[in-house]
Amino acid sequence: MFDQIDIIQQEVNQFSSKELSEIENFRIAYLGKKGKITLLFQSFREVPVEHKKEFGQKLNILKNSASEKVNILKAEAVKSANKKSVIDYSLTAQPTNLGTRHPISIIKEQIINIFSQIGFSVSEGPEIEDDWHNFTALNFPEEHPARDMQDTFFINKEMALRTHTSSVQVRVMENEKPPIRTISPGRVYRNEAISARAHCFFHQVEGLYIDKDVSFADMKQTLLFFTKAMFGEHAKIRLRPSYFPFTEPSAELDVSCTICKGKGCNVCKYSGWLEIMGCGMVDPNVLENCNIDPKTYSGYAFGMGIERIAQLKYEVNDLRLYSENDLRFLRQFKSAY
Ligand code: DAH
Repeated sequence: MFDQIDIIQQEVNQFSSKELSEIENFRIAYLGKKGKITLLFQSFREVPVEHKKEFGQKLNILKNSASEKVNILKAEAVKSANKKSVIDYSLTAQPTNLGTRHPISIIKEQIINIFSQIGFSVSEGPEIEDDWHNFTALNFPEEHPARDMQDTFFINKEMALRTHTSSVQVRVMENEKPPIRTISPGRVYRNEAISARAHCFFHQVEGLYIDKDVSFADMKQTLLFFTKAMFGEHAKIRLRPSYFPFTEPSAELDVSCTICKGKGCNVCKYSGWLEIMGCGMVDPNVLENCNIDPKTYSGYAFGMGIERIAQLKYEVNDLRLYSENDLRFLRQFKSAY
């Protein structure tokens, strides 16, 4: 009878299956009411007294190993059955959620695209800028109140976070010879309290055109081309006199209201016009500061806020949304760029 225990133990050890039905049959055959192991228990009576203890122990080990085997195999079989149902090859492909571009990136790409059609290159400069490139070369005299136009984050006396992308104009003019035709997109920083209408960082695109005989009319035509490409053929522009230290004359450019098309609504405060950028003829002092002879060359410059353009295109009125990374906001923007 001890032999039988050994034989059955071997059978138990050797048994393996991934099929639930086979495992259940095994259980019935060994541990069921008439199973081999159950029957051995019944033959316990016939075992001579002196062997009972040893027999009982061996039998218990056999029973335990058989039921442990059943439990383990069943658990594995259930697990792999579940796995199979997760990967169902007969299903059609699951739609993948693609990310979307950030609205600021979409508008930036559109602006680059429009200006590259008329020969403008793209140039970039550092966000941590020195006083010369951000202010002095741009004709902001030292200690002049004009510097207060832009609340600056200073790093030390010499260095600051750039307050505008006009600093890139200076770098380009210092490094390239006319004709220059370039736009400079980038992030800028101002020490402002964050609200729906102001932020401590935002994005601008600067434009610069320097050549012989560049006129205010050239600038107007270029900016009209841009405005129509950006807002549609129906868009009109107007130029209002303004002041910037680095341009003379300076102007602000308005586009006919993109919402009411100029009829008057609360977005344009019933004026029919929306301001979208500053512009003007590069001040001769600035040309001179960048080693370009103002007697030979003239040029125009302009600067616009990307958030401002995005706000008008998408009718988003809270600037904070652009940097909060709220997926519910970001998922609304789809683009070809
Ligand atoms: N730098 C100006 C600003 O941040 C925008 C600007 C105005 C840029 C006129 C120009 C310009 O190049 O000609 O408000």
